[in-house]
Amino acid sequence: MLRDAHNRTIRDLRISLTDRCNFRCFYCLPNGEPPLARKETILTFEEIAYLSDIFVSLGIEKIRLTGGEPMLRKGIVSLVDQLAKLKPQLQDLALTTNGHELPRHAQALKSAGLDRVTISLDSLDRDKFIDITGVDALDKVYAAINAAKIHGFDPVKINAVLVRGRNDDEMIEFARFAREYDVAMRFIEFMPLDSGHDWSREMVVPGKEIHDAINAVYPLKLKESSRGTETAWKYKFADGAKGEIGIIAPVTEMFCGACSRIRLTADGQIRTCLFSTTEHNLRDFVRSGASREEIVGFIENAVTKKEPRHYINDADFVQPARTMSFIGG
Ligand code: 5AD
Ligand code: SF4
Repeated sequence: MLRDAHNRTIRDLRISLTDRCNFRCFYCLPNGEPPLARKETILTFEEIAYLSDIFVSLGIEKIRLTGGEPMLRKGIVSLVDQLAKLKPQLQDLALTTNGHELPRHAQALKSAGLDRVTISLDSLDRDKFIDITGVDALDKVYAAINAAKIHGFDPVKINAVLVRGRNDDEMIEFARFAREYDVAMRFIEFMPLDSGHDWSREMVVPGKEIHDAINAVYPLKLKESSRGTETAWKYKFADGAKGEIGIIAPVTEMFCGACSRIRLTADGQIRTCLFSTTEHNLRDFVRSGASREEIVGFIENAVTKKEPRHYINDADFVQPARTMSFIGG
């Protein structure tokens, strides 16, 4: 089992497949893609499958593939196929995507053993969607949500980062959308992980405000299974309507004490926190010919260095150099 120095057990691994993306969400990668990483610095699918096997043997139960946009990586279906072989010790295999490429591959991903998808959707209004993401692709994202539902992903989760003055007037519409299409909304507070360094406290829409606004129109009932090591407070609609509301408030309601997550970047660095200022170069260690046992030791040691919490709310907080597109959401 992977346990850190603060007695937290690590069961959740997020793997970024690429730091590239075909969207330009202003809260993530507003100024375009990072300089293309040299191909040889990016983990191959063989390396990812091998390392995932080791992570699962160490007690990782959930793997989420992220990016950048993970579906820009060719052959993702074959990776999912390989990772699915790690079940049943691996209990949950998930993907976070902007949805652009999902319709083409949803069926193959499902057959390959992908359990869940989360699709990013930050506005239900075409012009605002373009303003936020830099691309005219709202229809594509709707098609992705449809495809995910048709091919049996259940529940389909939708991530929306709410930002003051940009899309915070859409909370109720999103709630209505969740009810109508039977999807699980996840409202996420804006975190200082944007490449433009435009984040400011005033732009954060507090989770409580989101809850209260929706609750006033569609009364909410906290789900019993809510929280634990999960990041979201989850609610059903009190009137029994379909759909779910989730609120992820890392800024105003820090949940680090229950954190069960570590991350592997596309270039093979272990990050023990979204806000880590150091990384552990697992890629070079593996490529230097380390044995499986030595790799286990490397991972265990990295985990002991996991930060107790983030420092967003401290006066001397410094934004990490890597942005969400590198780290993996
Ligand atoms: N703050 C909060 N969430 C973010 N994401 C990306 N950048 C940020 C940020 N600065 C989330 C998006 C996306 C997921 C991969 O990461 O919701 O769905
Ligand atoms: Fe975990 Fe770091 Fe996120 Fe806190 S900020 S919940 S420690 S990843």
